[in-house]
Amino acid sequence: MSSHAHQFSMLLISLYVVTTSLSADTSGEVLFKEKCSYCHLETRPSYDKINTMVAPPMMGVLFHVQQSKPSKLEAVAFMSDYILNPHLSKALCQEKSINKFGLMPSMQGNLTSKEANIVAEYVYERFASKNE
Ligand code: HEC
Repeated sequence: MSSHAHQFSMLLISLYVVTTSLSADTSGEVLFKEKCSYCHLETRPSYDKINTMVAPPMMGVLFHVQQSKPSKLEAVAFMSDYILNPHLSKALCQEKSINKFGLMPSMQGNLTSKEANIVAEYVYERFASKNE
C-alpha cells in the first residue's frame, strides 16, 4: 500500500471511530426505532396487522400505564424500570395482552439504564395523552 493510501485509510478509520462514539448519546427517537418499534407498533394497527402483532401497540401501552401512573414522573419512572426488569407482578397492561403476547423480554444488555430513561421519556412525550 502506498503511504498516501495508508494515510487515507487511517483517516477513514478515525472518522469511523469519531462517528460511532458520537452516537453514544442516542436520541429517544432513534432508540425507539431501533429497540422498540419492531415489537410495538407506532400507529393504530390496520386490520391486516392485528394478527401479526407481537406486542401491544405503543399508544395502548401508554393508555394503560397512564391509568395507574397519572403523572409523567411516575409513568416515566415505571417504564424506565419495566424495560430492563419486566415482571408479571409489575405489569399494568391488560391480562389478555399478557396471555396473548407473553411477558416483555428484558432489554437488559441491549439498553443502558440511561438509555431506558431516555426512551421512556420519548415514548411518554409521543404517545401519552396530555389532556389530564
Ligand atoms: C421483543 C418484543 C418487544 C420489544 C423489543 C419491546 N417490547 Fe415492550 N412489550 C412487549 C410485550 C409482549 C409487552 C406486553 C406484556 C407485558 O406487559 O410485559 C410489552 C409491554 C411493554 C410495556 C407495558 C408494561 C406493562 O405491562 O405495564 C411498556 C411500557 C413497554 N413494553 C415499553 C417498551 C419499550 C420502551 C421498548 C423499547 C426499549 C420495548 N417495550 C421493547 C414486547 C416488546
